[in-house]
Amino acid sequence: MAQPLTIEDLRILAKRRVPRMFYDYADSGAWTEGTYRANETDFQAIKLRQRVAVDMTNRTLASTMVGQPVAMPVALAPTGLTGMQHADGEIHAARAADKAGVPFTLSTMSICSLEDIANHVGKPFWFQLYVMKDRDFIARLIERAKKAGVTALVLTLDLQILGQRHKDIRNGLSAPPKPTLANLINLATKPRWCLGMLDTPRRSFGNIVGHAKGVGDLSSLSSWTAEQFDPALSWDDVKWIKDLWGGKLIIKGILDPEDAEKAAQSGADALIVSNHGGRQLDGALSSIAALPAIVDQVGGRIEVLFDGGIRSGQDVIKALALGAHGTFIGRAFLYGLGAMGEKGVTACLDIIRKELDITMALCGLRDVRDVDGRILVDGNRQRRA
Ligand SMILES: Cc1cc2nc3c(=O)[nH]c(=O)nc-3n(C[C@H](O)[C@H](O)[C@H](O)COP(=O)(O)O)c2cc1C
Repeated sequence: MAQPLTIEDLRILAKRRVPRMFYDYADSGAWTEGTYRANETDFQAIKLRQRVAVDMTNRTLASTMVGQPVAMPVALAPTGLTGMQHADGEIHAARAADKAGVPFTLSTMSICSLEDIANHVGKPFWFQLYVMKDRDFIARLIERAKKAGVTALVLTLDLQILGQRHKDIRNGLSAPPKPTLANLINLATKPRWCLGMLDTPRRSFGNIVGHAKGVGDLSSLSSWTAEQFDPALSWDDVKWIKDLWGGKLIIKGILDPEDAEKAAQSGADALIVSNHGGRQLDGALSSIAALPAIVDQVGGRIEVLFDGGIRSGQDVIKALALGAHGTFIGRAFLYGLGAMGEKGVTACLDIIRKELDITMALCGLRDVRDVDGRILVDGNRQRRA
């Protein structure tokens, strides 16, 4: 493929290069995938106001997220098994994010560990926490995050139990893939991926294996995960984690104004309006449809961040116009990673930056921090106007 110009170009390349079970793991949602699709398509109904003959020189995309400077208000979302899209995937993505001046968020369910990122990237990053029943393990994980130089903790609340994703079940998703005939045939068509994997020791869940009790090998890991995610998680646990962590706290997975209110009252620094990329409750609102009511409820009292369905810089600016202070991208960067490793994540961030910058200019603005409901045509303009 010639130079990728869109996130869709990166997706097509990733589909060619990444083994099917891991490509499908990224490009899928729960049950009918209705919410997954709506996350993307609902952006299309939002229309921008074109402005002319206004000064478009000296533009800036620089902003902040939880008080930390960012080159543009776009962070890499936490995604599990990122090191299966490409060998050492989390290290590559963290390096690309660092070079682009945007935050990288490591998932609890990553392949590379907290220590791997600290040792191989050496720059501050964010860490996403899933709450497991084994609270000793959680306390130790938080300590490890502090030692690794993590500057914000992203606490995910929307995965107390796992939404059903048909493709993962049909593909028999595991890390690394089991040597079944179907997998071996598929892997034979992905030589680049296989060579990368042969060259790295990181092929399992780096934050967990060897750290959590009773998890020494992969076969016990899947059952451990199913057993360990805590279905009894409550706002009291959020308080416990907030106190234990003591730093910047971001609550992820808020889709309802009542929950947003609780997040604001919890004293967290930010919340992320998110439906986990349509991977949990199918039939829920798209993230962009849920955003305005949450901004109305808590905007001004807690920083409102956003993720879900962002495939362009235009989607970023629409989320900002509807009241988000910053955004996260999941699949967009995973497609870049699967397509071309670190270079692909850089390409993804370049594409989004350019689209964001040109769109902002054509809407008549020069500073991303000035984006608000005025850039949307009537009907969408009520927010932050
Ligand atoms: C492959 C994949 C794995 C994910 N793993 C996690 C995870 O480990 N922790 C988490 O909080 N969110 C996880 N998410 C959700 C993302 O953080 C984010 O909410 C979502 O990807 C945003 O939607 P987008 O992919 O359309 O940008 C995952 C998403 C994907 C696509």
